[in-house]
Amino acid sequence: MCSYSLPRELPDHLLESGRIAIAPMRESDLDEVTLQECSLYEFPWGRTHFSDSLAAGYGAWVMRMDGALAGYAVVMGVLDEAHLLNLSVVKSLQGCGLGRLMLDWIMRRARAEGGRQIFLEVRPSNAVALSLYESTGFTAVGRRPGYYPARDGREDGIVMLCELAA
Ligand SMILES: CC(C)(COP(=O)(O)OP(=O)(O)OC[C@H]1O[C@@H](n2cnc3c(N)ncnc32)[C@H](O)[C@@H]1OP(=O)(O)O)[C@@H](O)C(=O)NCCC(=O)NCCS
Repeated sequence: MCSYSLPRELPDHLLESGRIAIAPMRESDLDEVTLQECSLYEFPWGRTHFSDSLAAGYGAWVMRMDGALAGYAVVMGVLDEAHLLNLSVVKSLQGCGLGRLMLDWIMRRARAEGGRQIFLEVRPSNAVALSLYESTGFTAVGRRPGYYPARDGREDGIVMLCELAA
């Protein structure tokens, strides 16, 4: 449930307003990011997932609103393919449009860097994320059996793909 009244504007306008900023994730962000991660996921990434992503040179981003952490994302790029590994919005700001804003920003950035396709995996049980991805233009192209840990064993991962328009 969104607890902040955020105007539904185009991402560019929100970013240009200066209240929301997306910047490269740094080591100094990791305590905060890891804390949020643990509050968002039953099976969260550990701090080393994030620090390894930084060390590997993946695209890792933090979104801040008025200076406070609002979300973060990690994207691995290989040749002309981008792979979205993590997209998260802090709980109190979910449903305000920030996930869509960040996804849009990531996709436009991947395209600008020569990406032609973006992939991701999502749990079938994650209705909000599925809805975001489907309405953004992602389509399911495969299924990875038992991809995720789950309370009662494992859960499949739906592989989704979106072509990045020129
Ligand atoms: C998934 C997540 C990134 C979406 O970000 P968000 O800021 O909450 O979503 P937005 O407000 O941008 O909404 C985007 C779309 O998601 C869907 N959505 C958002 N909240 C919803 C809800 N409560 N119920 C159903 N669909 C919802 C809608 O399709 C919405 O589009 P619309 O508002 O145009 O109808 C965010 O909820 C999150 O971090 N969840 C926990 C971590 C997670 O699951 N990450 C994704 C892993 S694959």
